[in-house]
Amino acid sequence: MVSYKELGLVNSRDLFKKAIAGKYAVPAFNFNNMEQMQAIVQACVATNSPVILQVSSGARKYANQTLLRYMAQGATEYAKELGANIPIVLHLDHGDSFELCKSCVEYGFSSVMIDGSALPYEQNVELAAKVVEYAHKYDVTVEGELGVLAGIEDDVQHEHHTYTQPEEVEDFVKKTGVDSLAISIGTSHGAFKFKPEQCTLNAEGKLVPPPLRFDILQEVEKRIPGFPIVLHGASSVPQQYVDTINQYGGKLDAAVGIPEEELRKAAESAVCKINIDSDGRLAMTAAIREVFAKKPAEFDPRKYLGPARDELQKLYMHKITKVLGSDNKA
Ligand code: G3H
Ligand code: 13P
Ligand code: ZN
Repeated sequence: MVSYKELGLVNSRDLFKKAIAGKYAVPAFNFNNMEQMQAIVQACVATNSPVILQVSSGARKYANQTLLRYMAQGATEYAKELGANIPIVLHLDHGDSFELCKSCVEYGFSSVMIDGSALPYEQNVELAAKVVEYAHKYDVTVEGELGVLAGIEDDVQHEHHTYTQPEEVEDFVKKTGVDSLAISIGTSHGAFKFKPEQCTLNAEGKLVPPPLRFDILQEVEKRIPGFPIVLHGASSVPQQYVDTINQYGGKLDAAVGIPEEELRKAAESAVCKINIDSDGRLAMTAAIREVFAKKPAEFDPRKYLGPARDELQKLYMHKITKVLGSDNKA
């Protein structure tokens, strides 16, 4: 058993309190490898932002649990070396069992998500309460979820949204003791959130998807005032990355993500954690494809992973300063 405190990490409690009071959201960026982790830390140090390093169960299998623990410790030390002691959370994304959450706590995670959102309500409550009881003994914070997002997570595909029912949130939070709650208001996982035919054209000729259900968010806030809310599936699918990928040999279908203005609006509410993974995947892939196309003789991985890391850092800095507003909040 290793405590996250020994690794220099923090849990999410104070970060969320400050984010709600300050009307911004803490970035939760997913990572699987060293370059992604470096880019996240570099961007957060450069902008003086707190950060949640987020690991899915697939990422944990990919990277290895022991390596992850040292990478997280490395992240806290790397941030200091870069000149800023920013708060860093190591968070399990979409934990699907008590055993996985327990194992993550034992391996140094400071926060876990137990995602029982696809279970019947009472089972979701029971599972989340069990995880909270265990995690809180170690001062590890817990995120629960009510409502199901459309899209893909860890190979599980949900065709349609099941929006969060505001009538359930108070009871869920009270019975489980979770520290934050992910809700479903129209965001979805992956790069293909909306097809162009689901969107309308605005005056600048940009495709605009159906708006998020801010009415549900407001109703949730009314029922659990000041309680930390989490937004998953918040990538915006920057068109320039899709274009670059397709220009240099990729084959991505047309796709539309969540407009950044909507995320900015959400960040000013009780939404205090915003999850972004797909945009990072697109940024990395676009940068790597461009190198491969322009320099086909290149075979030193540093020559394509380096530019991918630089592009990721740029993307994260943009999200922090122009979307989430977490710059200078470390
Ligand atoms: O919500 C899911 C995250 O984007 C993680 O994706 O399970 O493919 O690592 P993954
Ligand atoms: P995106 O696929 O929109 O980046 O969402 C990521 C996410 O919610 C991770 O939990
Ligand atoms: Zn998610």
